[in-house]
Amino acid sequence: MTPLVVGNWKMHGALAEASTLARGVVNGARDVSGVELALAPPFTSLPTVAAITRDSAIALAAQNAHWETRGAFTGEVSPEMLRELGCRYVILGHSERRHIFTETDEMVAKKVPAAIAAGLQPILCVGETLDERQADKTDAVVSRQLTSALKGLNKGVIKFVSLAYEPVWAIGTGHNATPQQVEEVHRGVRRVLAQLWDKEHAGVCRILYGGSVKPENAGELAAVPELDGFLVGGASLQADGFLKIARAFR
Ligand code: 13P
Repeated sequence: MTPLVVGNWKMHGALAEASTLARGVVNGARDVSGVELALAPPFTSLPTVAAITRDSAIALAAQNAHWETRGAFTGEVSPEMLRELGCRYVILGHSERRHIFTETDEMVAKKVPAAIAAGLQPILCVGETLDERQADKTDAVVSRQLTSALKGLNKGVIKFVSLAYEPVWAIGTGHNATPQQVEEVHRGVRRVLAQLWDKEHAGVCRILYGGSVKPENAGELAAVPELDGFLVGGASLQADGFLKIARAFR
């Protein structure tokens, strides 16, 4: 499976900054092979980044989408609108959406099939808070989030789905999960997928890790069995750092 490394710019990257950053990634990525790269700028910068990445192998990703195609949903963007802009991927259920904007499992469960129906490949984020980890609930939380979002999908579309394990306590804190912690949870994710479908289909989804991934820790994390890429926040705002992280898979 080709690893996928996604730069989630979050609410960074207005037009000028987005343009400089995307050009830096496109130019620097010419010597990166064996890894698929994707950039997830804010909605407003998607067309700019799309134009810059058009003739490159770098994919475009959105950070969120609604589940309806159109309608009275002030402030929302539909999967079809994102597909029209050239997005291949869409991040869904990010913990910032869940915890700051109170997105529920039920909402995420509507977004996943809607995104696939529009021709987007969801990157479904799951992960526990610090309290949940300390209460030994990591497996239960991750399993609940996965099952809720994926149980309605038929086997034919599973290949379009990537998962991202992002422990909330590791996001933006500088404290990444250890390789052992990542391996344990990723093995658990694979088990849940096998329960939902079967072993063969469980094997086709990429499982990314996100949470304080940096050039300094990317090497040891990239070596984790059952890890198929990274979802990078802060460190993706520097083209050099982002590309160093991508090269960890060589
Ligand atoms: P940081 O890499 O800044 O910890 O963010 C991770 C993340 O939330 C990516 O989606």
